[in-house]
Formats: sequence, structure tokens, C-alpha cells
Amino acid sequence: MELLVLSKKDLEKVLTMRDTIDAVQEAFKGLALGEVEMPMPYIIDVRKHNGVWGVKSALINNLDVVGVKLSSGYFENPMKYNLPSITGVVVLADAKLGIPLAVMDALTITAYRTGAIAGVAARFLARKDSEVAAIFGAGVQGRTQLLALSEVLKLNEVRVYDVIPEASTRYAEEMSKKLGIEVRAVKSVEEALKKVDVVSTATPSKTPYIKAEWIPAGTHITTVGSDHKGKQELDSQIYYKAKVVVDKKEVALEKDYLKPELIYAELGEIIAGMKAGRVSTDEITIMDSSGLGIQDVAAALVAYRLAKEKNLGTWIEFA
Ligand SMILES: NC(=O)c1ccc[n+]([C@@H]2O[C@H](COP(=O)([O-])OP(=O)(O)OC[C@H]3O[C@@H](n4cnc5c(N)ncnc54)[C@H](O)[C@@H]3O)[C@@H](O)[C@H]2O)c1
Repeated sequence: MELLVLSKKDLEKVLTMRDTIDAVQEAFKGLALGEVEMPMPYIIDVRKHNGVWGVKSALINNLDVVGVKLSSGYFENPMKYNLPSITGVVVLADAKLGIPLAVMDALTITAYRTGAIAGVAARFLARKDSEVAAIFGAGVQGRTQLLALSEVLKLNEVRVYDVIPEASTRYAEEMSKKLGIEVRAVKSVEEALKKVDVVSTATPSKTPYIKAEWIPAGTHITTVGSDHKGKQELDSQIYYKAKVVVDKKEVALEKDYLKPELIYAELGEIIAGMKAGRVSTDEITIMDSSGLGIQDVAAALVAYRLAKEKNLGTWIEFA
């Protein structure tokens, strides 16, 4: 039996944000329609080293694939060891035959599938005329957040804010070249939010740094940084003013700042037409993402199919 191994370099050659957004959107629709099975994510807290390992998994019945991701979150790594904050592996398997298909780098899959949530959410929750974006956190996720937003919106101005000013400057240079849009490093959170249309927050902050009074009416915000208990990026008051959409209620409700009565819908319910998305130009909408196994499996399947088509990756004799 053979297994396809896809490295970070392979994935960067095959994955496109457009394909990932479409696949993630379908997976969320499947979740709402009951075509998906997804156990609760499992977190192993490595307090001794200020890190976490997470296990996320899903079965997508209509695609006959199952997958598991084991990935880490060690956010001091870039500064201390020049290593990424997130690493790990995704295993993709055939649900019909019960055999593994591929093993791949989890950093790239995570970055693309997490970017994709901003793209899908913007399709249903942002104003169609959104032109100005603000990105918080100039790291790995901050980059794919912008890639995805620029796939689905016609952006003409982007502000980026990071607690490390050099990180914002590097991001601004790299992303403006890559996307051909003006990307500006800004010095304060408030400055980034002036007359903004769409926001993505992608920091591991444990203290909210975005105040309710700084958010203009009509803004859409996707938060990916506060992905589990203990992290929070938006001031709690914002959740009381906004239409709050989550990826999966049971997962989202593990966070202290969310309460059942604050949650309007799961993203899949909006995609499947069971609930309305944005209904007015002045409502504030929030997509609060925790990150689900279905996103990993959907993105891994896109990568596997494209890699086979393009003859990329390394096949190993496995069993
Ligand atoms: N929701 C999801 O599905 C999902 C998926 C992957 C990662 N995440 C989360 O996203 C966050 C970022 O992950 P990453 O891989 O981009 O990490 P990263 O280390 O590559 O980047 C994080 C950036 O945020 C900056 N930062 C930290 N605190 C800040 C603050 N208060 N204000 C502004 N900038 C700040 C850091 O300087 C760094 O540049 C983490 O919390 C991670 O757990 C969520």
C-alpha cells in the first residue's frame, strides 16, 4: 500500500485559496445538513513549556474521507527559537476502503483552511462593497486571512497592526507586493479601525485589545486568534452589539466570553440557507472561529487531489 507525503513546499505549490474557500464552504454546509461527523477537538495543555497540542478530526460522508490533525501551538517559538508557532501533521484516509491516503504538513493546511473561514464568512456576512480591511497579528494566520479576503472582496486598502512593529512592516511589504493592494503598517489598534469595512484578528492575545466604540457600523469581523478558552481579542461588549456567528456551538461555548444567548447561528446554517446572513448595511457581524476538523479534512482533500493531478509529493511504500 502506498501513501502520499506532502511537505510544506509541496502544499504551497498545489493549494490555492480559492479552492480551499470553496471546499471549506461545502464542508460547513455538510455540517449543517448532518452529512459530517466530527468529534469534539481534544487539547493537551503542555503547561511546562507554555504550549498546547490539539487533535481535530472529521468524517465527511458525502466525500468518503476521514482525517485527523495533530498540531501544536507554541507562540513563543518564533521569538525564542526561530521556529513556527504551529506545526504538526494531517492524516487523510479513505472512508470507504478504510485505508490512509496521505500525510501532510499541518502548518500549511491550518493556515489555508483558517484563511478560508475568513473568505467564506466575508461572502455571507461582509458588505459586498467592502474595500478597507484591517488585519491584527502579522503572523502566519494574518497572511492567509488577507489572501482569503482579497479573493472574495475588491479591497483597495489594508491596514495591519502587530505588537511587534517590525512584524507589521515586513507583512506590509510582503503582502502589498503579493496582492498589488496598498497594505500599510499602522501604529495603533484604533488607527487600523478608522472607517474599516472588514477586520480579521489573528493574534494569540489573552487580553481583549479591540474596544467596542472603535468598530464602525456595518463592519464584519472574523476572529480566528481566540480559538479556545483563555484567549480573547474583542472586548466582550462587542458581542452584545453584533450578530455573532460561530463555527460550532459546543466548541465555541468553551470560551468564557460567549454565552448561548449571544450566538445567532452556526456558519453552516447560513450557507445552507437555514438562517439569513447579513441583512442590513449597518449591522456589525462577527464570525468567531475556533477551527474545526472539517476544515482540515476539506483542505487536505483539496491538496491530495491537486497533488495527484500535478504529480507532486513523495509516495512511500507503507503497508
Ligand atoms: N481559529 C482557528 O482555526 C485557528 C487556526 C490557527 C491558528 N489560530 C490562532 O491564531 C493565532 C495566531 O496564530 P499564528 O499561527 O498566526 O501565530 P504567529 O505566531 O505566526 O503570529 C501571531 C502574531 O500575533 C502578534 N501578536 C501577539 N499578540 C498581539 C496583540 N495583542 N496585538 C497584536 N498583535 C499581536 C505576534 O507578534 C505575531 O506576529 C493563535 O492564537 C492561534 O492559536 C486559530
